[in-house]
This record gives sequence, structure tokens and C-alpha cells, in this order.
Amino acid sequence: MEQMRLQKYIALAGIASRRKAEELIRSGLVTVNGKVVTEMGTKVNDNDIVEVCGKKAKLEGNKVYIMLNKPKGYVSTAKDQFSRKTVLDLVKGVKERVYPVGRLDYDTSGLLLLTNDGDFSYKMTHPSHKVDKVYIATVSGEVGSDVVEKFRKGIEIDGYITSPSQMRILSKNKEKSTVEITIHEGRNRQVRKMCEAVGHPVLDLKRISIGNLTLGNLKEGQWRYLTEFEVKSCLNMVNRQ
Ligand code: URA
Repeated sequence: MEQMRLQKYIALAGIASRRKAEELIRSGLVTVNGKVVTEMGTKVNDNDIVEVCGKKAKLEGNKVYIMLNKPKGYVSTAKDQFSRKTVLDLVKGVKERVYPVGRLDYDTSGLLLLTNDGDFSYKMTHPSHKVDKVYIATVSGEVGSDVVEKFRKGIEIDGYITSPSQMRILSKNKEKSTVEITIHEGRNRQVRKMCEAVGHPVLDLKRISIGNLTLGNLKEGQWRYLTEFEVKSCLNMVNRQ
């Protein structure tokens, strides 16, 4: 939150109108970090504790939930050390400060969630909640049923065995295969590493769903707000675990 005048803060917290807030300040009923403040221009920010008549004034802020169809060539961090484009460049019209829920690699496309709700983000990404993520991968070579079985059993990458995952072969020929892979873990470059480990390096990777959210016909580079129903069903899903 940017710094703002105390009376605006009190008004945004829904405690009083700005004019009434000014009266409260003038009357010595407002404290900032435990000290009475009667000066009107006082600026406050997120770290300050504002109390009005002994009660904490908190900015609730509008919680927003966004589904983005990320194109390749964007990093899913707020800033990039190499000044590459970030997914935040794609949601410029959103006035709330949102951040990605988990990550997609620079060269992976597809479904990425963004929000300013830290609790939602934590729940959706915590490994114990085992939220399924579905990817469509084009891999080199012809994938056989032995590979599907290996995915089901778990694959060793980076010195650990992945949880059982599902693979469905959608099409294949001698040069390449297209497969649908469902995992619930979210380790760094996990799908790429798993495919590499079984001798089928990824040529193209796209995430098409997270839990019960699917991209549908959202075009690459486009975003939309989640509906209230979608947010609730995500939370129901993780709260059930
Ligand atoms: N697995 C990967 O390898 N890359 C992603 O972006 C997501 C999952």
C-alpha cells in the first residue's frame, strides 16, 4: 500500500467518512502505533497500526482472482533480473497489486492464477493439498506404455521419487508424441525433468487446468477474473483435504 493521509485511511477502512475522520483525529481519538495523532496531514502505510477509539482500523482491500493464459516468453515473477517481460505486463489494467500463484516456466504456456489473496495462494500451492495440475506436453520420440507405467509408479529426479502421476497418450509417431500429464506436486521444472528422465525431452509444454479450473477458450495472452463460484470451489477443494 502506498502512503496515505490518516483521514483517508480511516475512511477506506470503513470507520467514518473523511470529514468525520478529521473530527475524530482532531478530538484525539486516533492513535498511530500507540501514540495519539491530532495532526491532519499525518501519513500512514501498511506497517502502521491505526486505532480509532481503541479499535484497530484495518484496510480489507478488494480481493481479486485472475486466470491468465500465459504465452511463452514471459516470466512468472514480479521482476526479472534479465529484464524479460513478466506476466504482470499482461494484466496491466488490474489496479490491485496481484502476484502469481505458483509458477510456470518462461518457456511454458497456459493456465496461471494471479491474486492478492495470500491465504488463497498458500492453500492452492501447499503440497499437502495435492491440487491436480494438468499439462499437455509434446515430447520427442514415441512414448510407449512402459513410460505411462513409470509415471504411475514415480520417477527419480533430483534425487527423489515423484508422487504417482498420470500420463495419457493423445497421439504419437516415431518423431514425437503428445501426452496429457497430471501431477499434484509443483517442483521446479518437474514435468520437463520427468519427461527427460524417461528419455522423452519436452518440445512444448502447456498447462490446461488446475484443480477444477480449466482454460476453456481463453486465448493466449488474455485473462479474466474467476467467478465467485470458481473461487469458492477452489477453497472447498483444498479445505476438504
Ligand atoms: N513443470 C515444468 O516442467 N514446467 C512448468 O512450467 C510447470 C511444470
